[in-house]
Amino acid sequence: MKNRINIAIDGPAGAGKSTVAKMVAEQLSFLYIDTGAMYRTLAYAALKNQVDGNDGAALKELLDQMKIQLVNEKEGTKVLLNDQDITMDIRTAEVNKQVPLVASHEAVRLEMVERQRVLANEDNSILDGRDIGTHVLPDAEVKVFLTASVDVRAERRHEEQLKKGMLSDLEELKKEIAKRDELDSTRAVAPLRKADDAIEIDTTSLTIPEVVSAIIDLVKKPVSR
Ligand code: DC
Repeated sequence: MKNRINIAIDGPAGAGKSTVAKMVAEQLSFLYIDTGAMYRTLAYAALKNQVDGNDGAALKELLDQMKIQLVNEKEGTKVLLNDQDITMDIRTAEVNKQVPLVASHEAVRLEMVERQRVLANEDNSILDGRDIGTHVLPDAEVKVFLTASVDVRAERRHEEQLKKGMLSDLEELKKEIAKRDELDSTRAVAPLRKADDAIEIDTTSLTIPEVVSAIIDLVKKPVSR
């Protein structure tokens, strides 16, 4: 019998998934699992090892040699690849550009989904990604689909990058986010799509605490049954 509670948060890039998911996890003492970081880690490793992003079999072979660990810390999730800290390396423009291609291969996705299910089963957990409610955890107790306009999403990412001391170009971000939306939504395998039973929350004009409390309300309902 399943004795874990899983929350699935899906939606396009920059809708606020990771910020919100982290805060919900903290308030409920749930495990936070950033599945995008796993695809980013593979994209990073592929770039580093010059593995062709079009070659699904070669990417899967590379992934089979990769131990990916997501370590939750106060400052955020630390990402380790074969015990090496690559937290910052997976957020570069180069990785942003490469990751949708890497994430488009069925062999890669099957392995990632398998690993994500194992992680989700360890504890009460909240996962954010693109296919959590539709593929990874179709039986999740709570499913949320977060959206926001492209402009607002680009502005948020811009602020985030400036805060981290990174270079950031707002117009470039708008283009990049729109492009990534298109690639994520139109890929053949597990495209970005709202699960039929997911609750859609448009965060364009909501504050982060408002979104967090809306999700916690959803969690409390089924839990108290
Ligand atoms: O959430 P993010 O921006 O870190 O995601 C990086 C990329 O990985 C993005 O192009 C979509 C892809 N991704 C995916 O296909 N499935 C997931 N569950 C999570 C991310």
